[in-house]
Amino acid sequence: MPDKLILEQIRKAVPLISVGILTADLMSLDPDLKLMETAGVKLLHVDVMDGCFCPMMTVGPPFIKAVKTPLLKDVHLMIEEPLDKLESYVDAGADIITVHVESCRHIHRVLQKLGQMDNANDPNKGILRGIALNPGTPLEVVTSLIDEVDMVFLLAVNPGWGGQKFIPSTEGRLSRLRKMLSDTKKDILVGVDGGITRDNIKDVARMDVDIIVTGSAVFDGKTPLENAKFMIDTVNDAAGK
Ligand code: DX5
Ligand code: ZN
Repeated sequence: MPDKLILEQIRKAVPLISVGILTADLMSLDPDLKLMETAGVKLLHVDVMDGCFCPMMTVGPPFIKAVKTPLLKDVHLMIEEPLDKLESYVDAGADIITVHVESCRHIHRVLQKLGQMDNANDPNKGILRGIALNPGTPLEVVTSLIDEVDMVFLLAVNPGWGGQKFIPSTEGRLSRLRKMLSDTKKDILVGVDGGITRDNIKDVARMDVDIIVTGSAVFDGKTPLENAKFMIDTVNDAAGK
């Protein structure tokens, strides 16, 4: 079966940053969205938290639908048992949906279901299927999901809030994950999420990752455009782009 268009599109463009939007001004999002476009950001990361899987509650499908942007919507579901809720996120226009392996009994079924769903923005595109692993979750869980996944995200913080510190063991986990994935001979994307700032993005960009999520360091209440450009330039430099 040929690869989904969304997967081809993202593979061609990596490494990319995906900017976490929840620390932007949510009551006046359009100017911040425009700044991200101007900076050259391609992915918009939306952290969905239900107050059960992780302590904070954030936003859901109506918010994702209301965000008007040409950027791809990268939806990170930190919710319990996402199986029956997938449809509402797809209907809201998600392009990438990432589910936590710790969040459900039937993670394999969740991924199978996502694999059959059409992208609401463009039915020919498909949905990019991601799994996310908390910092305490053994990497081996990935091997049994390998046929149903396009991307593996490692959380570099325990999910719950923006602005936490990057957990140092993430570097070793990323390199072990890369080795495991290359042994499978499948071209699966690798992402990292949490605690990435202007101070450490250069180091993170050298960790051989395809997608780097950064939120509060871009929307710092001061210079989001410059911050986003700095992150993109740093990632491109590290990749020789
Ligand atoms: C962790 C979230 C992250 C995080 C990113 O709970 O999944 O996306 O909020 O924000 P920063 O970049 O502030 O760590
Ligand atoms: Zn996230």
